Amino acid sequence: MADGNRAASAMAGRSWPRSLTEVPYWVFQEEEVYRAEQENIFHGPFWSYLCLEAELAEPGDFCATFIGEQPVLVTRDHDGQIYAFENRCAHRGALIAMEHYGHTRDFTCVYHAWTYNLQGDLTGVAFEEGINGKGGMGKDFCKAAHSPRRLRLANVHGLIFGSLDNDVPEIEEYLGQEILDRIERVLGGRKPVVLGRFTQELPNNWKLYMENVKDSYHASILHLFFTTFGLNKLNQKGGIIVSENGGHHVSWSAINREAEAKAASTYKDQNIRSDSEYQLQDPSLVDSFSEVGDDITLQILSVSPGFVLQQIQNSIAVRQVLPTGVDTTSLNWTYLGFEDDTEKQQLTRMKQSNLVGPAGYVSMEDGAIGGFVQRGIAGASSESATLQMGGDQAVSSESRVTEASIRGFWKVYREAMGFSIGETEGAGK
Ligand code: FES
Ligand SMILES: [Fe+2]
Repeated sequence: MADGNRAASAMAGRSWPRSLTEVPYWVFQEEEVYRAEQENIFHGPFWSYLCLEAELAEPGDFCATFIGEQPVLVTRDHDGQIYAFENRCAHRGALIAMEHYGHTRDFTCVYHAWTYNLQGDLTGVAFEEGINGKGGMGKDFCKAAHSPRRLRLANVHGLIFGSLDNDVPEIEEYLGQEILDRIERVLGGRKPVVLGRFTQELPNNWKLYMENVKDSYHASILHLFFTTFGLNKLNQKGGIIVSENGGHHVSWSAINREAEAKAASTYKDQNIRSDSEYQLQDPSLVDSFSEVGDDITLQILSVSPGFVLQQIQNSIAVRQVLPTGVDTTSLNWTYLGFEDDTEKQQLTRMKQSNLVGPAGYVSMEDGAIGGFVQRGIAGASSESATLQMGGDQAVSSESRVTEASIRGFWKVYREAMGFSIGETEGAGK
């Protein structure tokens, strides 16, 4: 906490425009800001996605992951409960577990063999009594006082979230009902099965990726594939939900046959790059089935600071956004199916997984665009981005031609960081 306060007061000297329509570029560039984020955001009162409950099916299963840069271990013990604690040995700080996923009875640190149980209690110290009465730990050494710090945990329809701050609000309050409902829509009452995972390294600050995820404005413009094959146009029925605090969002769209005909002409009239002479040689790539019995074919949901739940047709995935430096980010993808999928449905999901990921027909551009911004703003730390699309508020809207959910992200972020909110009105007013 002391560190957190230090970081917050360091940031108070920084002025942020009052309007939510301006984002100063230095926020993507400075080491000092990056350090303060680790304290104020990732160690602060936020919930971070850790893993799926389904990935810890058996007692003894574990997952080594991160909150920001902080390594953490998530386990299932023999009491059936899930636990999480810092993945850092209480002795001299080595990682307790090295593998990303595994199964174990307990953990032994490789350095000097201190051991931990599945709940993260320090249970053994090698040569604690010394040898032949010589050496060893002092009499007053107490193992219980040297266990790694435990995290607070929450389980939302099989998504495990953790927080390093005991003062974080309950997850239901943190997310709000609308976001909870939309998570439930995709995951409620279903048993996920992991179809595959990979990590994508992004050449940009993590916040540029979160902006991109919340940016419904770009989807049908940057992603030629969407419009070429009629998967997502801004004039489809859809909308944006921004949570009350601004930090979380849902962008969704549904099939609307009537709009389809109009759509082609709108895009053509405005000379937006949205059509091409190319056709899929195997159209079964975009064959789909109704995911949960409704018409919604796209639902992208984000939870601040760094979680995404994706439904693009039948490609369901969770994404964990992990900052690894001022201008580097690890993006961990986990593709999901469900236990009661038919073989055909699973095949459809596998085919559609080609839409996303680093080489995905759709999301390849998202992996590059953050780098274009990072490179574009070099030398412009005193300039800012403008976020005026759809007004200057951070509220839900029926139109996806808006940057409302990006403004919401910054609203929560700038408050958590303790910047002093300046007098500049910003161009959006
Ligand atoms: S650092 Fe883990 S036992 Fe020494
Ligand atoms: Fe995108």
